[in-house]
Amino acid sequence: MSSQDGEHRWWHGAVLYQLYVRSWLDTDGDGYGDLGGVIARLDYLSWLGVDGIWLSPTMPSPDDDWGYDVSDYLGVHPDLGTMDDMDALIAQAGQRGMRVLLDLVPNHTSSAHPWFIDAAGSRDSALRDFYVWAGPGPDGGPPNNWLDATGAPAWAWHEPTGQYYLHNFLPSQPDLNWWEPRVHSEFAEILRFWLDRGVAGVRIDVAHGLYKDAQLRDNPPEAGDAPMAGRFGLQSVYNANRPQTHGVYRDWRRIADSYPAAYPGARLLLGETWVADPDRLAGFYGDDDELQLAFNFPFVFAALTAPGLSGVVAETLARLPAGACPVWTASNHDVGRFPSRWCGGDERKTRLALLVLATLPGTTVLYYGDEIGMTDVRVPPELQQDKMSRGGGNGWEGNRDRARTPMQWDSSPAGGFTAEQVTPWLPAGDTAAVNVAGQREDPGSVLRFCRDLISLRHAEFDGQIGSYQVLPAPPGAWAYQVGRLTVLANFSGRPVPCHDPGGPVLLSSTGAALPAGPDIVLAPWQAVIARSADAGG
Ligand code: NOJ
Repeated sequence: MSSQDGEHRWWHGAVLYQLYVRSWLDTDGDGYGDLGGVIARLDYLSWLGVDGIWLSPTMPSPDDDWGYDVSDYLGVHPDLGTMDDMDALIAQAGQRGMRVLLDLVPNHTSSAHPWFIDAAGSRDSALRDFYVWAGPGPDGGPPNNWLDATGAPAWAWHEPTGQYYLHNFLPSQPDLNWWEPRVHSEFAEILRFWLDRGVAGVRIDVAHGLYKDAQLRDNPPEAGDAPMAGRFGLQSVYNANRPQTHGVYRDWRRIADSYPAAYPGARLLLGETWVADPDRLAGFYGDDDELQLAFNFPFVFAALTAPGLSGVVAETLARLPAGACPVWTASNHDVGRFPSRWCGGDERKTRLALLVLATLPGTTVLYYGDEIGMTDVRVPPELQQDKMSRGGGNGWEGNRDRARTPMQWDSSPAGGFTAEQVTPWLPAGDTAAVNVAGQREDPGSVLRFCRDLISLRHAEFDGQIGSYQVLPAPPGAWAYQVGRLTVLANFSGRPVPCHDPGGPVLLSSTGAALPAGPDIVLAPWQAVIARSADAGG
């Protein structure tokens, strides 16, 4: 059991907000969002009611993967601002009671990082073992069959030193070698550096990936065609998902727990745990001595149906260790936006999904724009910026730029993201149809509904994970009790009668009042939150 017992785990029952800094608000007229823009809109986030913000990568980077190729872990990217800006952001968020999480990328660096430049300088470099080097395989080609995130071999031949190096992502993102103890000490220092500055925690990129098989064994073929069965025909058994990675998180957790419980409270490790198996996901919580939150990708890839979502929720809750806090998200900068993926732009479905996200036990993570129902944007090939999927020959749907377009603040062509004469780094979506300014004024908007949901979540969860119990529901519907609330959700295009929750309806996704009576009839794609019968009205 951890030293945080009885202390304030502020993320319990909370709503975190993933903010893609480059696309949030441009305050210096270069077409990129920046930290000044985050500061400028802290009042908006406070009005919305989020408890913490996770900033997409903020460290210096050549931007082959928009900050996920770090060249200095202790700095701030000059496009985004300065260290003073970061300090001001943390302080000003704190004044509003919001925590700031940074994105930490420990699986790989940029090839422009001084460690890699040194390591690649010679086989005798003192830093050579910071990375994964190997000679050719038996056929004279790459050392094994591992593939990178674009489907190309995960090995780049380094002519000057006559060896391959490993890159699970782009060739300019060489994988670190976590068998090397000095990599551990470097990252422990990096973590402390940011926690010392008042950062409330980190989202850990590729959290399942740090260690690689020491023998570099071939990956086996994938077992099926489920969304997370593997990639490009192979299961990631040996190039990621190695058990030794858990030791890193036990070390980091000790570091996080060594910080005082005073604001910003316990320091949070939130993992990008890209795993399909709920037991494997559960493993990242350890014995409450590893990550406190592990992202749930099976939920992201579940169908927007009652059995699809309720099945993942039930299985997750059954497998997580007692007391572990589940985390639910539906959109991010890689997988796209749920109002498109799940809802096809149908606002009824978006509202239903927001209601479910806001009432599940644990922690909810919204992606910027979720709160106004922003959909994916078709970015034409000549304007695309994402090298990872562009190389894969995908259409716009497969290109991650679709979910990284400017925040839609108002109805102007660039959505108020930047000055009128400036071209934003990615084109804005349909700002006339969907924007913050219009929705803020409209009590019936998705934004106002989302804000009401967050407010209700705070009032009801009150810093607790929330107990969950599934309730009987007719086909097409999902009903559950969470804390003192009953949620009834109709995932079908026809009216569905549900059992009377016993208490009054507090919020409806359609805004419409429901006729009183022993049986509630939900309209197509309607969801409601009611006070449970046994909750004392
Ligand atoms: C996961 C990040 O979310 C993604 O954007 C990035 O390309 C890869 N990790 C590599 O860092």
